[in-house]
Amino acid sequence: MPLWIAGAAVHGETTFEIRNPYDNHLVATTSYATDDQVERAVAAAAAVRHEAAALPIHTRADALAEAGRAVAERAEEFARLITAESGKPLFWARAEVGRAISVFRVAAEATRVWSGEVMRLDTDGAAEGRLAYVRRVPKGPVLAVSPFNFPLNLVVHKVAPAIAVGAPVVVKPAPRTPLSALLLGEIIAGLRLPAGMVSVINVPDTKAPALVADDRLPIVSFTGSGPVGTAIAAAVPHKHVVLELGGNAAAYVGADFCRPGDLDRAAGRIATFANYQAGQSCISVQRVFADAAVYGEVKQRLVAAVEALPTGDPADERTRVGPLIDAAAAERVEHWVDEAVAAGARLLTGGVRNGTTYAPTVLEDVPADAKVMCEEVFGPVVVLHQVDGADDAFHRINDSRFGLQAGVFTHDIQLAFRAHRELEVGGVIIGDVPSYRADQMPYGGVKGSGVGREGVRFAMTDYTYERVMVLTGVDL
Ligand code: SIN
Repeated sequence: MPLWIAGAAVHGETTFEIRNPYDNHLVATTSYATDDQVERAVAAAAAVRHEAAALPIHTRADALAEAGRAVAERAEEFARLITAESGKPLFWARAEVGRAISVFRVAAEATRVWSGEVMRLDTDGAAEGRLAYVRRVPKGPVLAVSPFNFPLNLVVHKVAPAIAVGAPVVVKPAPRTPLSALLLGEIIAGLRLPAGMVSVINVPDTKAPALVADDRLPIVSFTGSGPVGTAIAAAVPHKHVVLELGGNAAAYVGADFCRPGDLDRAAGRIATFANYQAGQSCISVQRVFADAAVYGEVKQRLVAAVEALPTGDPADERTRVGPLIDAAAAERVEHWVDEAVAAGARLLTGGVRNGTTYAPTVLEDVPADAKVMCEEVFGPVVVLHQVDGADDAFHRINDSRFGLQAGVFTHDIQLAFRAHRELEVGGVIIGDVPSYRADQMPYGGVKGSGVGREGVRFAMTDYTYERVMVLTGVDL
């Protein structure tokens, strides 16, 4: 598949294969951009930045709406490509495409109401006759570095806000899963936007530091691992860096969550969202804290729900849990689970690896310092722990170097507000798992989970700065 540089399809010199993580079949061949091609993409973004910033609102909004329509027209092609390149079950790949379409729609809507702010300044006598207009101006071209786990939607989450504010963007998709981003590049090349505004190029990770360091790209929006994100922030302290890093998301099941159907729902949601896309989401449920009053029932229902998840070929419509991205990832998860069991954890189900697939796994009595408890597993593993009330649960949820999202199953509105006040995370989901994400809401973490926010309007704010104009002598 070709790369897209300033609206044109190009091929690099060094080709590489994309193989399906489930059965290793060849999905497609693509190429890495040559140094010259990388330079062309960056130079085009820099050259077009003033033109992009000056684009009328209707041009940007119409382009975004058109991009959403074009993705919708090719939705099934995108979904099958996501499944083929990443091993994500088709069911979840279709959901991802649906979300990407909605991100474009939300961005088109947000663009139309992105008007700046007028402020009267005559709040003091000395400022009589003064009026301020505050507009938000793009900080400049964006370098978007996207991960393998949402190969389409997490690209759209970086590209759509950039188009919305009039910022050029150079996309570097994850080398394991570049195909959906490249197909999106084809769609964007057909939009009525200046040609240099969006480029999608494969760059080997070893060459990424040079791109990150390039001062023509003053914004770096990165989603991926903690160590890489930290290295980026350290390398370019003068740049605006947005980091969406990992997590070990927790859910708390409160003692009051025991009305008819409650525990079936909680267990079902936890089972699904600890294992969707084989746990390879930054907000998949990794730690579950259940009150003593409901612990036994949660455990029994959770194990049953996990064992009922159809696991196997991601291209099969019925499959809900597919492979991990590669054998090394599956072996790492296996190693971490074995290590926890050796340290005293009890395996309630799962714990078996078959090639790149790891069986959905539930553990209890896991020591606090086991990796499956305190690191990000990024695999289909959930750890169950009994707690003694909300104090205990919130303390344990906060006892993490991450802070992305948390879920609290309760009907108690006071407890909901308390969770929102006290949990050190970017989002608290009441009545559901931490994995819930609507694409228009602010999304991002604290502590080791990152800095900055995505979620269309919030990324638009992140990509821009306020520039104020003061009018003098206005007859207010
Ligand atoms: C992530 O893994 O950070 C993205 C999760 C999502 O968009 O649902």
